[in-house]
Amino acid sequence: MIVCVCRRISDQVIARAARAGMGFDDIQLEFGVATQCGKCESCARSVWAECLPGRPVAHLLRSEHERTTPASN
Ligand code: FES
Repeated sequence: MIVCVCRRISDQVIARAARAGMGFDDIQLEFGVATQCGKCESCARSVWAECLPGRPVAHLLRSEHERTTPASN
């Protein structure tokens, strides 16, 4: 899912960066998250905080599940 519409940055990108040990400021500098309109900052910070090293990976697992599970219509 796209978190930052202005920069087209997904939760997967933020999660990967957080798990690599990047701080939120680093993610802003590297990807431009929450540096334009700023409306994504709260969500982006939540994704980042959930995915810091040592945190549960429920967010990533849920996203992986949604990506690989066919929709039941
Ligand atoms: S949606 Fe992220 S800066 Fe606008």
